[in-house]
Amino acid sequence: MYENTDALAVVRALRPDEPITLLRPHAAARAARFFVEKFQGKSLYAVKANPSPALLETLWEAGITHYDVASLGEVRLVHKFLPKAKLCFMHPVKSERAIAQAYHNHNVRTFSLDSREELDKIVRATDGATDLELCVRIRVSSEHAKLSLASKFGADPSEVADLLVATRQVADSLGICFHVGSQAMTPAAYAEAMEHVRAAIVKASVTVDIVDVGGGFPSVYPGMEPPALDGYFDVIHDCFEDLPISYSAELWCEPGRALCAEYASLLVKVEKRRGNELFINDGAYGSLFDAAHIGWRFPVALQRSETSIGTQMAEFSFYGPTCDDMDHMTGPFILPDDVQAGDYIEVGMLGAYGCAMRTEFNGFGETETLVVSDQPMATLYGWAPANDEGVRATRSQSSKI
Ligand SMILES: Cc1ncc(COP(=O)(O)O)c(C=O)c1O
Repeated sequence: MYENTDALAVVRALRPDEPITLLRPHAAARAARFFVEKFQGKSLYAVKANPSPALLETLWEAGITHYDVASLGEVRLVHKFLPKAKLCFMHPVKSERAIAQAYHNHNVRTFSLDSREELDKIVRATDGATDLELCVRIRVSSEHAKLSLASKFGADPSEVADLLVATRQVADSLGICFHVGSQAMTPAAYAEAMEHVRAAIVKASVTVDIVDVGGGFPSVYPGMEPPALDGYFDVIHDCFEDLPISYSAELWCEPGRALCAEYASLLVKVEKRRGNELFINDGAYGSLFDAAHIGWRFPVALQRSETSIGTQMAEFSFYGPTCDDMDHMTGPFILPDDVQAGDYIEVGMLGAYGCAMRTEFNGFGETETLVVSDQPMATLYGWAPANDEGVRATRSQSSKI
């Protein structure tokens, strides 16, 4: 582990041949404290975004006590590293065996569901337990989000009332949850979803104990610069206050991306340049899955000792190290025009759905992990003076450590 350092210091010291994941626990802790202090409810970390045990421990120490797990593997992982954490099994379609093991072996009491079949499964697998917290997931639009989660899960509005009534009969606590899609670019996404929650409660006439607004809280990427997170929280708090629920009802959220996007970046080496295509040593089967498969643009910075004064910036695309044509990241990634083989590039904001996606396909995928102490390439958590658009800041605006 290297402390008090940054990507360039790593290049100078190691000139690494393999990609290196650079971790910023201070950034994840800052994000966690922001949610703990400002979100007026419980923030459940969505483990799928990045299940690294070191990150789980960082979030726990910063005050995140609840974890949204979506598989038995995640249940076991979090239970092992954070035995006191509260686990909420929020995948609406689970095997009966997974439900039974989560309930009986790992003390999980909170489950989500979006159908009558899943409710029956939960009842059977827990032997008719009377201490269940059951959250009915409703389908809401993903129109304000960059990644849709609107098709696969969520009870249809026409089924929700019956499902709420049936779930109320077996649940000790009844919740309603939704997901507005990942990287929601406006707080309006939550306001609109909360209207569906209201309609469902009114139609079903049930007492609701938990309203869980899910994930979707954004991070900052090139071309995707959302408003400040406080605005999202304000909208959610106001909508929650207006719902026809009791004073003791709880508000929950399940941030994944927002808690860990700033946690990691990746240092890659350029192996070849062909025109404006750079062949780098990580790609679609590594941490750059989203860059390849959904065209997500991540910020990049050339990490070279000598600054290229006067060099124009240019648009590049990347090829990853495997033999597949589809190991290609279109970008465009903006870098100095004189980038060449042997150079190093830092790809930022890969803490969420980046490191978590690595495979060892084609013999690649090995990566060393180092802790660095500089700032992430961008942040929603305001370590630099606020700019015109709120707390957002990029590394170039900060005084670097
Ligand atoms: C049920 C659930 N909760 C939370 C999340 C985290 O979403 P995000 O990373 O957009 O905050 C996801 C992501 O797929 C999810 O499926």
